[in-house]
Amino acid sequence: MTASYRFTHAITRKPSISITGGLRAVDIGTPDLAKMLAHHADYIAALRSTGAEVVELEALEAFPDSVFVEDTALCLPEGAIVMRPGAPSRLGEAAAMAPHLRALYADVRKISGAESFIEGGDILTTETEVLVGRSARTNASGIVELTALITDWGHRVREVFTPPGVLHFKTDCSLLDGETILATQRLAASGCFDGYRVIQTAEGEEACANTIRFNDLVIMPAGFPKTRDVLGKAGFNVREVGNTECAKLDGGMSCLSVRFTPRG
Ligand code: GLY
Repeated sequence: MTASYRFTHAITRKPSISITGGLRAVDIGTPDLAKMLAHHADYIAALRSTGAEVVELEALEAFPDSVFVEDTALCLPEGAIVMRPGAPSRLGEAAAMAPHLRALYADVRKISGAESFIEGGDILTTETEVLVGRSARTNASGIVELTALITDWGHRVREVFTPPGVLHFKTDCSLLDGETILATQRLAASGCFDGYRVIQTAEGEEACANTIRFNDLVIMPAGFPKTRDVLGKAGFNVREVGNTECAKLDGGMSCLSVRFTPRG
């Protein structure tokens, strides 16, 4: 398998003016679009600095949360799966992503069951398995359908559980390398990462668990110095990117891109 953190491509989408109406668990303030655009540009620059090709899609005003492209697709080396977001206001985002996946992949499949819901934020792909967290956005039927769609590509799906009250599985964890996961204490305690090496976010810094390993960089939200230093001491090349505005909508580093290496 291609290393689970080596990518030739990423797709991002510009934040829309309608982002101020994006979904959020708790209202902690209106996102500042200008600041979000500046952070978004820094994020794309970090991805590009690793040598990857980054596709920047235009904003979709009809979909306030569409900057969070990760939820619309799962990309594997063999092909891509168009997701079926569990948030009704986000369902149409997946269809808008499909043509961009078809431009890069010969094999694009989709979650289509009327009762199936699954969002990319609930999926963590490691070197050996695809972990999918059941959540308020991802249900058992969505996981069963995903399993059927990727088994012939040689991928093994393991159902896990997103902690109650947490938006997505990856809100609380990230892949750091082939065998290492960054996770909050509450998720690590569930035992779902047994067999992996786990680095826990520092106390009070749980909000930085949504970080990404992208080629040689670990791209993490700025403002979490204790965890940053732990990762640095562990030998990771950390790049901090501002995330204050996306955080108001429960978004983090993984949410802002779909990352992949199409085979062939
Ligand atoms: N605001 C991101 C989401 O709720 O999907």
